[in-house]
Amino acid sequence: MTASSRRRRAKAHSRITTLSLLALGVVLLQGCERTPQTDAAAVAAASGAYKTCAACHGAAGEGNEALNAPALVNLDSDYLARQLRNFRDGRRGTAKGDSWGSIMAAQAATLDDAAIEAITAQVAGFPDRAPEATIEADIGNGRDYYNMVCGACHGPEGVGNPNLGAPSLRGIDDWYLARQYELFRDGQRGMHPEDLPGQQMQRMGQVLKDEAAIRNVSAYLQSLGLPD
Ligand code: HEC
Ligand code: HEC
Repeated sequence: MTASSRRRRAKAHSRITTLSLLALGVVLLQGCERTPQTDAAAVAAASGAYKTCAACHGAAGEGNEALNAPALVNLDSDYLARQLRNFRDGRRGTAKGDSWGSIMAAQAATLDDAAIEAITAQVAGFPDRAPEATIEADIGNGRDYYNMVCGACHGPEGVGNPNLGAPSLRGIDDWYLARQYELFRDGQRGMHPEDLPGQQMQRMGQVLKDEAAIRNVSAYLQSLGLPD
């Protein structure tokens, strides 16, 4: 056998191996669909728990700007659960003038810890989806500001830093990022004495000096797309 025919055979063989692995993957996926290994009761509880959220945040957590409800699909699970507890326990959405926050706080009022856990698990299972850009701004300027003042906590390119309680800012609606920054700036979020991570962020609320800087940073984060 010549070297080149050996190479051809090896190539054909690897192609066959790839194909059989793909076929196996398909069979396994189909198998999963037909006989779910997950605890059926937990799944049922989760879908029940998220059902009310879908009216504003969308059936797969994709968000709805017209209702001011942000996408939930790309939030870190720990952060998502913490925010639900914050809304429920009066640490967020209670400040005067925070009208969107108060709508959400009313929604979280009756959630117990088990429901929060079930919702968090269900949202983590939604397919990834990048929200669309809605802000046109100076992305290069936004990147400079981000690297100067935000990256120390939110990590390089917005990936987040769980040790500091600073969430990932990737895959989050730009309009929602800008509004949250303004809420921190205006003392409408992160003021509660028991909201320690919120206070950390609240102290950063004066760093971006004007509307343009806030829009630039939000547009920059949006331009990064989903985390890898
Ligand atoms: C009536 C509409 C409505 C419903 C129903 C609703 N939300 Fe919200 N939610 C909002 C709005 C509006 C905001 C934005 C609040 C703000 O701007 O601070 C929000 C914000 C949030 C946030 C904050 C996201 C972040 O990045 O900090 C989370 C988490 C959230 N909602 C989860 C849920 C879950 C889970 C449910 C179901 C139990 C739910 N929401 C039901 C309207 C709603
Ligand atoms: C000292 C650390 C620190 C720095 C610096 C910092 N942040 Fe934060 N940020 C946090 C923490 C902690 C939270 C979580 C607050 C909470 O749990 O409510 C947060 C939350 C946020 C949120 C809310 C996200 C959401 O889904 O609701 C936005 C938006 C945000 N930061 C933007 C920025 C921007 C823009 C900068 C730079 C100007 C910045 N942060 C700098 C610590 C920081």
